[in-house]
Amino acid sequence: MCGIVGYIGDKKASEILLKGLSYLEYRGYDSSGVALMTRNKIEIFKAPGKLNNLREVLSNQQNICNRSTVGIGHIRWATHGLPTELNAHPHTCNCGSLVVVHNGIIENYKELKNELLKYGCEFKSQTDSEVAAHLIAHEFQKTKDLLAAMTSAVKKIQGAYAFCAMHKTLPDRIVVARKNAPLIIGVGEGENFIASDIPAIIEYTKKAIYLNDNQIAEVKKNSVKIFDTDGNLLENKIEMLPFEPVALSKMGYKHYMLKEIHEQSDVARNVLSGKLKDPKSPVVLEDVKLSTNDLKNINRIQIIACGTSLHAGLVGKYILEKFAKIPTDIEASSEYIYRDTIADKNTLVIGISQSGETADTITAIKQVREKGSHVLIITNRPDSTMARLADSLLPVNAGIEVSVAATKSYTAQLLSLYLLTLYMTQIIDEKSVNDKEIISLKQEMLELPNKIETITNDTTSIKAVAKKYSGFKDFIFIARGINYPTSLEGALKLKEISYINATGYSAGELKHGPIAMLDETMPVLAILNKGAVYDKVMSNCEEAKARQAKLIGVSNYIDRKHKDLFDDILLIPNISDTLSPALNIVVLQLLAYYIAEYLGKDVDQPRNLAKSVTVE
Ligand code: G6P
Repeated sequence: MCGIVGYIGDKKASEILLKGLSYLEYRGYDSSGVALMTRNKIEIFKAPGKLNNLREVLSNQQNICNRSTVGIGHIRWATHGLPTELNAHPHTCNCGSLVVVHNGIIENYKELKNELLKYGCEFKSQTDSEVAAHLIAHEFQKTKDLLAAMTSAVKKIQGAYAFCAMHKTLPDRIVVARKNAPLIIGVGEGENFIASDIPAIIEYTKKAIYLNDNQIAEVKKNSVKIFDTDGNLLENKIEMLPFEPVALSKMGYKHYMLKEIHEQSDVARNVLSGKLKDPKSPVVLEDVKLSTNDLKNINRIQIIACGTSLHAGLVGKYILEKFAKIPTDIEASSEYIYRDTIADKNTLVIGISQSGETADTITAIKQVREKGSHVLIITNRPDSTMARLADSLLPVNAGIEVSVAATKSYTAQLLSLYLLTLYMTQIIDEKSVNDKEIISLKQEMLELPNKIETITNDTTSIKAVAKKYSGFKDFIFIARGINYPTSLEGALKLKEISYINATGYSAGELKHGPIAMLDETMPVLAILNKGAVYDKVMSNCEEAKARQAKLIGVSNYIDRKHKDLFDDILLIPNISDTLSPALNIVVLQLLAYYIAEYLGKDVDQPRNLAKSVTVE
């Protein structure tokens, strides 16, 4: 949520900032701005809307851009105040000597503002962030030391922040601070970088320092010094960044989302590689630190996640209860943290998150750690805050996901949950490795990448259905059993990128209310896997048909009854009920994609959304 980039070195800062911000656009994209240090002056440029608007503003400032080799930039996802130029970062103090960009939320900004008004601070924006500019500047007056000013300021600030600040009298440094919002310092030769996420700087350096909570750093061109809030100098821990720059290209696809959907067969191969060799071998999960004893003592599992990760977790509940036979609850992190949840040392808490930075999930994890539960994190970002808080880590290896709507990370999370379930089951019951159903599930998992390819290699019928239905304003998705989460995720995809009102229901619930909505204007998409609930879902489709709803089926089974019942059928390769969520979702992702494409929507950056939600 919001993106920060900083640069100090000998190159043109504006170019590095703009490029870095473009790689962070998935975090927020309603306005942007940069502050460029020139000889003892700071120039600020901002623009509402997409980053291109800022690019245009800067293209008319070549003189300043050519001269500045130090700067900070920000791309915003509005929390306080409209996405206007005035509310865009950087923010300044009254005289413009100090500039700051901020990610996060300052919870006590009203109190701080009232205090600062007494000192004559004039507020120009409606943001909480502007308070930080005035506060740091106010502290700066006392010592003329930016590091000391930042240190005193953060002690007064409650909430979450990643700050990046510059003062015109100190052109050789950028001072940064972090609490509950990610910030890294990219280490170069005679230059250093600052970013709220790796993609912004990966092109320039693979070496970085991950700032921890309550740390403040002074970044100069040839040095980085990190301090705690008591002013103690800390050791720099330089780590290698785990991504390659090539991950950030569309590779000829029109959108990142389409590329990421097509990558899913390879992602599935990656997830399984080294972990599942053949159907008769046990699953190997090196970073899962649960001993046989631990697992035998676990009497409940709680899964916590948000958004698409929550839907992956719902599938996890079905398989964990089916195979590992441990009672499993799942809840949205944002609800979990405000309940008197019962968890103890015999509870395994599984946090699922693509980014590893979702604020609600981080808070939930911190809460359960205090209760002594073992925290296992399934994430696409082994370098994230959640990964660092984990007792056990299961990296999903989907590669950087740029499109805001999650696709390949979902499939990778699903497969990781299957692997985890099989791993736990084989520890709880050693004989399960020879169980027929388990051998056959493993066989199917190994075949899954090819089956995904069968779908992505020929999207003709999905495109045709997308075109036919792109004019509808509402959709209902139905399924039962293990595909109920697929109906939720399919509806979410459609909603996110096309703004069509789509809702997922368990098919059995259709007649308990939603059926009142059905008529010829409300298409129903049914997921029909040949298995335990097939006939039941077929009956629910009959009920929908009787209300004149248009019916679309997604099925792995050729049934002569389909012809009369369905307006359109999308066939997928044969697959068991148990693994079908990992295949069905690919069809729904493509359907959502092509509908949004027909409607001309901004697929990769849908309105109001952000890829990584770092505020509660
Ligand atoms: C945001 C994203 C969703 C994502 C959710 C949870 O809302 O737009 O795509 O599913 O956050 O994110 P996480 O990184 O924790 O999986």
